[in-house]
Formats: sequence, structure tokens, C-alpha cells
Amino acid sequence: MSSPIRTERHDNVLVIISDNPPVNALGQAVRQGLKKGIEEALGDDEIQAVVIRCDGRTFFAGADITEFGKPSQGPNLPQALDAMEASDKPVVAAIHGTALGGGCEVALACHYRVAVPSAKLGLPEVKLGLIPGAAGTQRLPRLVGAEAALPLVAIGNPIPAKKAEAIGLVDAIVGEDSLEADAIAFAKSKIGQPVPRASEGTANQDGVKNPDIFDQFRAKNGRKMRGFDAPNAAIEAVKAAGELPYAEGVKKERELFMNLMTGSQSKAMRHYFFAERAANKIEDVAPDTPLISINKVGIIGAGTMGGGIAMNFLSAGIPVTILEMAQDALDRGTSVMRKNYENTAKRGRMTMEQIEGAMGILSPTLEYGDLADCDLVIEAVYENMDVKKEVFAKLDEVVKQGAILASNTSYLDVNEIATATQRPGYVLGLHFFSPANVMKLLEIVRGEKTRDDVLATCMKLAKKIGKVAAVSGVCPGFIGNRMLSKRQEQANALIMQGANYWDVDDVLLEFGFPMGPFQMGDLAGIDIGWHRDPSKVTTVREALCAAGRFGQKNGKGFYDYDEARQRTPSDEVKQIIADFAAKEGHEQREISKNEIRERLLYPMVNEGAKILDEGMAQRASDIDVVWINGYGWPLYTGGPMHWAEEVGLDKIVDGLERHGLEASEALKGYAALEGGFRALR
Ligand code: 3HC
Repeated sequence: MSSPIRTERHDNVLVIISDNPPVNALGQAVRQGLKKGIEEALGDDEIQAVVIRCDGRTFFAGADITEFGKPSQGPNLPQALDAMEASDKPVVAAIHGTALGGGCEVALACHYRVAVPSAKLGLPEVKLGLIPGAAGTQRLPRLVGAEAALPLVAIGNPIPAKKAEAIGLVDAIVGEDSLEADAIAFAKSKIGQPVPRASEGTANQDGVKNPDIFDQFRAKNGRKMRGFDAPNAAIEAVKAAGELPYAEGVKKERELFMNLMTGSQSKAMRHYFFAERAANKIEDVAPDTPLISINKVGIIGAGTMGGGIAMNFLSAGIPVTILEMAQDALDRGTSVMRKNYENTAKRGRMTMEQIEGAMGILSPTLEYGDLADCDLVIEAVYENMDVKKEVFAKLDEVVKQGAILASNTSYLDVNEIATATQRPGYVLGLHFFSPANVMKLLEIVRGEKTRDDVLATCMKLAKKIGKVAAVSGVCPGFIGNRMLSKRQEQANALIMQGANYWDVDDVLLEFGFPMGPFQMGDLAGIDIGWHRDPSKVTTVREALCAAGRFGQKNGKGFYDYDEARQRTPSDEVKQIIADFAAKEGHEQREISKNEIRERLLYPMVNEGAKILDEGMAQRASDIDVVWINGYGWPLYTGGPMHWAEEVGLDKIVDGLERHGLEASEALKGYAALEGGFRALR
């Protein structure tokens, strides 16, 4: 096999070029080629400088993740990079696209870095449950200082070239279309000068002079880092860069890296990395299916959901026509959207100009006729089949042929909705999650008759508006809510049998969810869907509403809330629950946290197995994508199906039976198969 690395001579400069699509990952052949390229430059007296660049869409985007966990062949990346840095001929990294992870470490081992304006640099290893493993945590702080290095290493978001230049990570910004020529000229200008090596830099002393920066960083980012192992290891490594000599710092980094690499969190997060990308692929839809152009979107309903959905498109520069029944509802909806944008601007994540840009392409209307030329219309009206069918019949009349008609229903039958139109092929579900402008997940619900181009278009569109999409078949609640209902059933049963409702919430918090089911009820509002008759009480929720406990909005729901929205369990609610349990004749007993956890989570896995078995999800990992992005399932456990495999499917079957719950034939079937959930799909 030919090497992905080739060299070209430009006078006295050797250009080492990688051509390893799609993202120039640093697999074995690339590392080998890089090392040989440097040896070629060093062994040739006519060569006085080196440029390293990549063909294709990006500079090296990191180590080859598919090689992780497998026996690796030399040279390893640190060895290849040490050889590069040791050169006394200047080596220049010429960066375009994304220099990420090991790719950024290649750039750090070079003596200079030049980048095009659109390039980004970063160390996203924490997002894979890792820290940089090729001396990135030791070279970067020595080059830019510990304070500037911390967010890059411990949070992992890449930064644009200009910011990288400002902190000293990039030496020069060069022409977008003249990277190679400019890099060669830059390299020539450095010939004869002593080479600067990041490993010998002294910027790391800022962390020694002011060691408080590490605790301050932890305090500021505590919520983001909760439960994750890698960010703490990253902070430790950056701290070590100030305290230890370079070689020892590298050893420390290696130790931390290997610990993470062999741990369960990184395994889960690497699983998720590929799961998210797999979810983008629809098994029986050809990748080259021609797409429908989406230049204008219609939204029906300007409430919380409709407004949030509209914002996604506006932010991506796609004009939106939003329809309401009455002028005051329309005005209210659009002003909430503006306010949400303004809040984003206050946090520095948007400029006033961008707000005006987004609001400027919004057209509010009361007339269905104004939706006629939309390429996609999404309805976000009341969850009622008759109402939805009426809306779709109307859309079928007014919207041009060839346009996509989508429902944002969270559990209704999309096939039945489609029957209200003469074009069921163009109908599907686009299930956004609240708040729709923030939550990452988009469940794409494929109806029996949904056309391939409609599906493929929505998949592509999801990426454009920054969503993570997964396809679901039509079943009540689709993938996400169908599994959620099983958890909720158990949560309700547990509190009837004697479990404290705050223990139920705490078990999920301890597992890594941002909140438990009763906190979620309080946040959403307990009175949603309430019949408003305090004398008619048939559920605990109705009893709470009758007692004027509506949730966070009026300071009391399952919990009492103080002004800072801190929750305290309520004696009144405890009594309401106890009365209810007594009325229904439930025996009370003490229930351990372990039982609570198993009873909340195992039935979800059981339902997931059925969803998979019925073909409602294309693959188990799609279910993980849904739960991580839509419901706060902790990323570091890899999602419900990956987590279940790690626990052991047999153990889950046993656990369900031990708690008197039925294990489905589907789950038992997967448990008996080698390869578990991955065996069939
Ligand atoms: N290794 C192996 N495959 C990779 C990869 C990597 N580092 N990065 C991307 N790919 C694959 C993807 O799986 C995908 O494959 P597919 O087409 O078969 O699904 C393909 O390349 C294209 O990737 P995307 O769909 O993600 O393409 P985008 O254009 O949307 O994004 C990207 C490009 C920004 C580079 C994105 O792929 C990305 O963020 N990649 C990961 C970057 C990363 O985490 N690097 C650090 C790796 S760990 C490391 O370097 C350790 C070191 O410190 C020792």
C-alpha cells in the first residue's frame, strides 16, 4: 500500500504532505510517513527548512480513534513528534480546516505554526474521555501559559485561528488561498535562526506564580465537568506542566492518559463519537439521494415550541414564516423569540447585528396562504389527533407540491396524520425537544410512506441547524418518550410503595442525569394538561394541583422552592403521597437506592430492546444518541444501550425478574446472543 505521506521540494524547503482522507487522522502509516519525512529533511544538506501540510478538507484532525484499544504499531505519536521537534532545521505547520487533538500536537511539536483565517485549533480529547497523549498538555502551557491552556485542554472546544494567534498558539495568519506558498515563504524567513521549541518554553510559569487559577477554573466550570473524569486529569496535567521538568511532565501526562484510555468513561465516549456519526446514516436510503432545497420554512404555532423551532432556522439564515390564529398570540410569540436572542447576546454569544439579521428574516402571519411557497412546514400545535389532521388537510390544500410537511408531535401516529393529505410521501415527524432552540436532539420520525428524499433532506437539514438527528419508526412516543414512560411508571410505583420521591430524583442525579422525574415535573409545570377541577382527584399530580402546587412557577410543586430555586422536600407532599398510597392499599416498605436505580433504568433498557427488535430504531447506538441528547442521559456512560451492555444484559434480565417486572423476549434474545445489541443491528 502506498504511503499517505509524500514529500515535495521547493528550493531548499521540503514540504511534507499528508493525504489520508477523510480527516487526515494520524494512523500508523501517517506517523511512519511523518517520521520518514523529517529524516529525509535532516539527511539532505540542501534542505534547510520543512513545511508540514495536509491535502483535503483539513489538517490532521487527531489520532485515529479506530486504533484505540487495539495493539499499536510504532512509531507512536510522541516518538514521531519528538523527532520533529528535535530538528535544528525550522519546521512549520501549515494549518487549514481543523488541527485537533494529535493534529494540534503535531503543530505544537513544529517550531512555528501558520494558519489560514478559517482554521480552528483545539485539543478535544476530553470529549472522548481522554487528555492529549502526545505531550500536548506539556507543550501547550509552555507556549501559551497555563491559564490560556486550561480551557483548551479541560473543556476541549476548538478556537479560531485569530484567537489562537492572540494567545500565541499561531505565529502568523496567512492567505486563505495561498497557504502552501505563504508557509514556504515563512519557513525560508526562519532559516539560520535558532529554532524555538515549545517544550523549552517558559509561559507555564503563570500557573506557578498564581496557583489559584486551577481552583478558580474548577469552580467556574464545575457544572460542565460534573461526573466526568477527564477534565480533572486535564487540569492536573496542565498544573504538572508548571511544576515538573518537561520529561517528567510528559511521563505524568502518559500515566493520566493511559488511566483514562483503559477506563469505562473513555470507552463509552468513544462509542458515542461513532454512534452520533452512525445515526446520520439511514440504512436503506442511498447516501447520494438527491435532496430537496429548503430555502424557506413555515412554522405553525408561535408558542414555546413553535418559536423555539423557528429560532433554529433563523439562526442558520433560513427565512421562516410563522403562523398563529390570533394577532396577540403571534405578537407574544415573536417577542419571546427576540427576548431569547437578547438573552443569548447578554451572555456574549450573539451580536445585536446577528439578532437583527435573524429577526429580519422572520415573517409573522395569520394567513395559511402565506405558507404556500414554503419548502418545509412544521406544525407545532396542540397534541390532539383531530387538530393535527385538520392542520395537515389545510396544509395539503395551500402548500406547493413537493414541499415537506412535518409534525412536531411527541407521540401521535404520524401515519395517521399523513392520511389527512394527498401526499403522504412528503409527511414525516420532526420531533424537537424543549427548549427547541437549545436542545440538541431531533427525532426524525419516518412514516410508512415517507419518501427517501424527504428523509435524506431532513437529515442534512438537522446538521445545518446544529442538531443531532436520529431516525425513529412510528410507535407511541417514538424512541425517547416510549422509554421515558417506562421510567416514569416505575417512579410513580416506587413512591406508592414507600420510596421517598427525593430519593428517586437523587438516584438519577447521582447516576449523572441533570435532574430526576419529579424535579422535571416541577420544572415543566405540574398543571400541564390538568382539568382544573380541584374536587376531581385521581392521581398524585391532580392532588398537588388541587393543593395549589403547580411546580417551580409558583414556588411549590413536589418540592418547596426558595428564591434561588433551591428545592426542599415538602411535608405536605409527603402526606399527599402517603394518603394516596393508603387509599389505593399499597403496602409500604423501605426501598434501597440500588433497587430504585435498577427499577428506573432496567425497564428502559427492556423497552429499548423491544424498540430495536421491532426495527423502530435502526441500531442500538441510535437509542443512545436519543437519550444522551434529548434527556440528559450521562454521556460518560455511553447511553442506555451501551451502559446495559457494560452492566451485562443477563444481569438486567435477572434484575427485572427479581423486581417482579417482565423481561421481554426481545431483551432475553439479545442477552443470549454473543455481541448483545450489536449482533443483529
Ligand atoms: N479518527 C478516526 N476517524 C475519524 C476521526 C478520527 N480522529 N475524526 C473523524 N473521523 C471519521 C468519522 O468517524 C467520519 O467517518 P464516517 O464518514 O465513516 O462516519 C469521518 O471521519 C468524517 O467525520 P465527521 O462526519 O465528523 O466530519 P465533519 O466534517 O463533520 O467533522 C471533524 C470533522 C471536526 C474533524 C470531526 O470529525 C471531529 O471532531 N473529529 C474528531 C476530532 C478529535 O476528537 N480528535 C482527537 C482524537 S484523540 C487524539 O488525538 C489523542 C492524541 O492526543 C494522542
